[in-house]
Amino acid sequence: MAGNQTFTMIKPTAFKKNYAGAILKMITEAGFQVKAMKLTRLTAEQAGTFYAVHKGKPFYQALVEFMSSGPIVAVILEKENAVEAFRNFIGATNPENAAEGTIRKLYGTSLQQNAVHGSDSDENAVIEADFFFSKMERF
Ligand code: PPS
Repeated sequence: MAGNQTFTMIKPTAFKKNYAGAILKMITEAGFQVKAMKLTRLTAEQAGTFYAVHKGKPFYQALVEFMSSGPIVAVILEKENAVEAFRNFIGATNPENAAEGTIRKLYGTSLQQNAVHGSDSDENAVIEADFFFSKMERF
């Protein structure tokens, strides 16, 4: 059965451009409930660990550098069938292919700077949420 939580990050460029408020408004208005949230900055080592599944791919090093280049907003979200619902909601990974009106279409500019991350499975949602948040930081 699909889980009811997913994990997202507002990526460095989107945060720097002051899109965090608008993005979180869209997310909550779509019925996703915030269960945990923090503004933080990843070291290159932490970004490398978070994206370890992509190690060896041509874009890995650039992605690690980008994701550690500035503050990000990490969020745990709850909704029925959260992982799939959120991925559909934010649009395709490449903003060029994302549907009109989606977060990635509105606020993303490239495959790398695509405004937000969304977990790709229930298993990874748990791993990613645990990476950022302790029990005490969840509600
Ligand atoms: S893959 O190879 O299909 O698993 O990759 P994908 O799911 O499309 O993307 C995974 C994350 O890597 C980022 N990405 C890139 N960054 C820079 N350059 C290129 N070419 C590139 N391709 C993919 C992409 O933004 C995804 O980040 P998240 O945080 O998961 O959205």
